[in-house]
Amino acid sequence: MAELVDHPCVQHKLAIIRDVDTGHKRFRELSTEITKFICYEALKNVRTKNVTVQTPVAEAKCRKIDTDLVVVPILRAGVGMLDGILELVPTARVGFVGLYRDEISKNPVTYYERFPPQIRGGTCIIIDPMLATGGSTVAAIDLLKENGANNIVVVCIVTCPEGIELVEATHPDVAVYAAAIDDHLNENKYIVPGLGDAGDRLYGTSH
Ligand code: PRP
Ligand code: URA
Repeated sequence: MAELVDHPCVQHKLAIIRDVDTGHKRFRELSTEITKFICYEALKNVRTKNVTVQTPVAEAKCRKIDTDLVVVPILRAGVGMLDGILELVPTARVGFVGLYRDEISKNPVTYYERFPPQIRGGTCIIIDPMLATGGSTVAAIDLLKENGANNIVVVCIVTCPEGIELVEATHPDVAVYAAAIDDHLNENKYIVPGLGDAGDRLYGTSH
């Protein structure tokens, strides 16, 4: 399942982050701002429990989140989304997956993994701005499941039909939330129109 977050505030920021003239400082700020909105949507079905709170006037029936939240950025570009989701859920724990796409094969290569134990029984939110072929996201989901996670959502900024289809085919239980579902992948497996290389744009490392 893929859900597009089509709110005008998100789409306005998306237009600016896509712009080739947007520099890395603004790109980072926008990544944080957009992530907060998408994660707000992605967490709409998270488990809650009923609580009673004493206001200055009377008792109020309220709800509080009733699951351990574990945010899992895919290094490197996913780190650019971390501040955004932590502004929304500051007590979330953070795990890391280090993956890069091999420049020739475009297949993901794993170089780091570190998860808190709360991935078992909690809700894991994978963050990565680009879900292109889907290889990196599927590898991250595989790793989380191998380590005991069974409740996973994916939050990206831009994706495309090829990536969504791969996640749906391999992990039909995992929902994907995105600000854009673009047209296609080019011959270098970049999303078109996309926003280019997210890691390079975030960290100012493009040549
Ligand atoms: C980018 C992006 C995703 C991956 C998406 O990372 O941040 O992790 O590519 O591509 P896929 O869906 O085809 O796997 P990259 O490999 O460029 O590494 P980086 O974040 O370190 O720049
Ligand atoms: N990784 C990126 O950073 N951008 C793409 O378009 C595809 C993969």
